[in-house]
Amino acid sequence: MTTSSSAPGKVYLFGEHAVVYGEPAIPCAIDRRASATVERRADDRLRVHAPALSLDGLTVDFGDDVAVDVDDERVAAALGYVRGAVESAREYVDGTAGLTVTVESDLPLGAGLGSSAAVVVATIHAAVRELGGDIDDDELAERAYRVEADVQDGEASRADTFCATVGGAVRVEGEDRRRLDAPDLPLVVGYDGRSGNTGELVAGVRQRREEYGFAADTVEAIGDVVREGEGALSDNDTETLGELMDFDHGLLCALGVSARSLDEMVWAAREGGAAGAKLTGAGGGGCVVALDDGGDARRALELSPVCETAFDAALDREGVRAE
Ligand code: MEV
Repeated sequence: MTTSSSAPGKVYLFGEHAVVYGEPAIPCAIDRRASATVERRADDRLRVHAPALSLDGLTVDFGDDVAVDVDDERVAAALGYVRGAVESAREYVDGTAGLTVTVESDLPLGAGLGSSAAVVVATIHAAVRELGGDIDDDELAERAYRVEADVQDGEASRADTFCATVGGAVRVEGEDRRRLDAPDLPLVVGYDGRSGNTGELVAGVRQRREEYGFAADTVEAIGDVVREGEGALSDNDTETLGELMDFDHGLLCALGVSARSLDEMVWAAREGGAAGAKLTGAGGGGCVVALDDGGDARRALELSPVCETAFDAALDREGVRAE
């Protein structure tokens, strides 16, 4: 028997990085998913098969002390998330069973679309069910958060994993997590083909925040943008939402987490008529998200020399699901 689950990726409308310090954030699940298929084995080993995570296809067999040895740092990190997720599921169901896990994903790795959270949530969900257990959203989101925090040396908030678990637009502030009523948002994503290291980028912001009072103020200002944005979201006020996304991007730039390619894509989307645009996720390279109500931001992104792919994204109101 095999058991499969999938979970959505996400973009941040507002609030990444500041959420790590207790400010609110609003991530939104999008209609691109990661899935995990899990099968119980006769032995006690963990085998991870991850064709979507590398061009060549990739299979790693974990024994008790087998180190991951792959060239691509992003793939190695992704395997760390899968391993952590399986261990969490085994601990929850009280099993030591061997498992074969196949991970597939429409989400680029480490690019700000929540690939690791989606992979962890889908893997725990599928593994618990394959081992005969049952898990509710609260327990799943909490376990997925602990796996992310572990792999990222403690540098994580609950935002990505909660959003991947419940779907839709969510608001996370410290331990307070809830779904928001949100309209369908005209989202466009641009991807530069690169990635950032979330743990390192979060640590960089932490250092700046400790060194400079104005960096700490910048983190608080992002929280103010999010509070303002929440009102604009419930009023479905695209113009204000866009303006606030631009503001948020400026503050993230000030905190040192943008990149030239991200800034160029943000400007391309704005010049293509987007109401606003910003980087999404940890930054350093990866994706931008634009709000494009009637403009041609996707085309403008496609024409940008730094943009590898651009696509329209819909808010996905469904979180983790059995496949
Ligand atoms: C990464 O997708 C979002 C960050 O805020 C880190 C986190 O919340 O865990 C940068």
